[in-house]
Amino acid sequence: MDTKRLEITEKNIAHAGNIIRTGGLVAFPTETVYGLGANALDEDAVRSIYQAKGRPSDNPMIVHIADTAQLADVASEIPEAAIPLIQAFWPGPITFIMKKTPEVPMTTTGGLETVGIRMPENETARALIRAARRPIAAPSANRSGKPSPTTYSDVLEDMDGRIDSILMGEDCKVGIESTVLDLTGPVPMILRPGYITKEMLENALGSEVQYDPALMMDPIARENQGDFHPKAPGMKYKHYAPKAQVRILEGGDQEVQAQMEELKRFYHYQRKKVAVLDYGRDSRAAAKDFFARLRELDREGVEVILVHALPEEELGFSVMNRMLKSAGYDVIHV
Ligand code: TXA
Ligand code: MG
Repeated sequence: MDTKRLEITEKNIAHAGNIIRTGGLVAFPTETVYGLGANALDEDAVRSIYQAKGRPSDNPMIVHIADTAQLADVASEIPEAAIPLIQAFWPGPITFIMKKTPEVPMTTTGGLETVGIRMPENETARALIRAARRPIAAPSANRSGKPSPTTYSDVLEDMDGRIDSILMGEDCKVGIESTVLDLTGPVPMILRPGYITKEMLENALGSEVQYDPALMMDPIARENQGDFHPKAPGMKYKHYAPKAQVRILEGGDQEVQAQMEELKRFYHYQRKKVAVLDYGRDSRAAAKDFFARLRELDREGVEVILVHALPEEELGFSVMNRMLKSAGYDVIHV
């Protein structure tokens, strides 16, 4: 299949909308990461997303809408807490889990009665949804297990020849995937941390928000507990793994830097190509840069990536969630 490269013009967006409506796949920019879109209401189209990504079929898709008028097409019940949250954060980098309508096929939700819904802020993304006149199911546009793509060339690296077309938009300004918030229980629960943090949600709601306990568990405790079931099925798969080995160093700045120097020497003796990622305390910069950098370092043939841990608070907690996964939870405490 020849993947059509589309510049962002009105005509091309209309064309891409047509591709979606007729069952095809279009990769498109959002403010978080690039998405791989298909008509969310068309089972066959959604099945071809799983195929193109090589994704396990029990991993549900996020359904993207362009305006609140579309919400009733996909959600059968709008929980009360959704009202202030939609007001505060949509369009934007947050996905709300609600009960689905019968029109949303189980193929889209990975067999669940609930559906993740997001209204992206990116103008091209919303223009595409309007042009398709359909809600768009879209996971991140990477091959399953690889770092999420935050530029159109990262998408092409994984998907060229596997999808109908790509809208070649801007680089993603957030750089990590949306916060996933479950609104179907008594207390809103964060299933995947993202740019919109627990603190921001609690401020907008004026009440408590919880983390999925699975997010807080350390990985060893998690492995020992045979029945580990995160509520977002996608969270259990190996994720964001570059070819290089990623190692996280945690501790005081000076101690970490000294340890990094020592490890660099050690790997140089082994003739291994090493890179260091140190964002200081700047979790915003880390979010925007991290996935793109993993891919870049892979292209450069780097074999070991040493990452200085971020403070695990607010956005830093969300970025560390991605960093820890990419490292397979290999953390050196110094
Ligand atoms: O920022 C984003 O959310 C990007 C862009 C393209 O919008 N999309 C994205 O999709 O990251 P994906 O498929 O890579 O991740 C979706 C996550 C998975 O962890 C999945 O398990 C969870 O959301 N999820 C989706 N629907 C769910 C549901 N009904 N219940 C629980 N978790 C759900
Ligand atoms: Mg993904």
